[in-house]
Amino acid sequence: MKITFYGHNTLLIQINDIQVLVDPFISGNPLSKDKVDIHSIKADYILLTHAHQDHVLDADTIAKNNKATIVSNYEIAMYYQNKGIEVHPMNHGGNWEFEFGKVKYVNAIHTSSFADGTYGGQPGGFVIEGEHKTIYIAGDTALTMDMKLIPLQAKLDLAILPIGDNFTMGIDDAIIASDFVECDKVLGVHYDTFGYIEINHNEAKRKFFEKNKDLMLLEIGESIEL
Ligand code: NI
Ligand code: MN
Repeated sequence: MKITFYGHNTLLIQINDIQVLVDPFISGNPLSKDKVDIHSIKADYILLTHAHQDHVLDADTIAKNNKATIVSNYEIAMYYQNKGIEVHPMNHGGNWEFEFGKVKYVNAIHTSSFADGTYGGQPGGFVIEGEHKTIYIAGDTALTMDMKLIPLQAKLDLAILPIGDNFTMGIDDAIIASDFVECDKVLGVHYDTFGYIEINHNEAKRKFFEKNKDLMLLEIGESIEL
């Protein structure tokens, strides 16, 4: 499993030669818009955690460019189906075996509405299992006790957690989240994109290190292999 960071919560996950894009927000991200060309992104599936603009802005364009299938909650799936895009609707607690692996849509505490005001259902996260690796993408969320349910069914190799604070968990809560999901290997996302969520990288890494945990912060375009 190869994971490439395109800024904010945008991730390209390659599993079994299938390209799974998560929360594409590139053309509106001041940190990534000049570094990543949305028209060169290849995606077979686009997973959306919730409907906020900083997670779905480029979903429409990239889905149409690639004839990709959008996977999200029912309301978000219907929103894109009405635009003529192929979708796979899910809802909280549900699993589905896709050609690349198994996906579970899990709880998140946040809000979810489209920029035009359309209801975007309840926000979520994803547990993705493929190529004998399992990752958790929390999406935008507060620290929640529901995270304790995840290790009952999945032994995680990586937890992808928001760390920017203000709109989501900050560093201290993300450290507790990593305990709840029983995974000490964390990829931080949802930081630095706007003024509200700027973080001190060294301090964040030190705080994780002091708890014997590893916080990875990738450059835009940088990849890790699991
Ligand atoms: Ni959000
Ligand atoms: Mn967000």
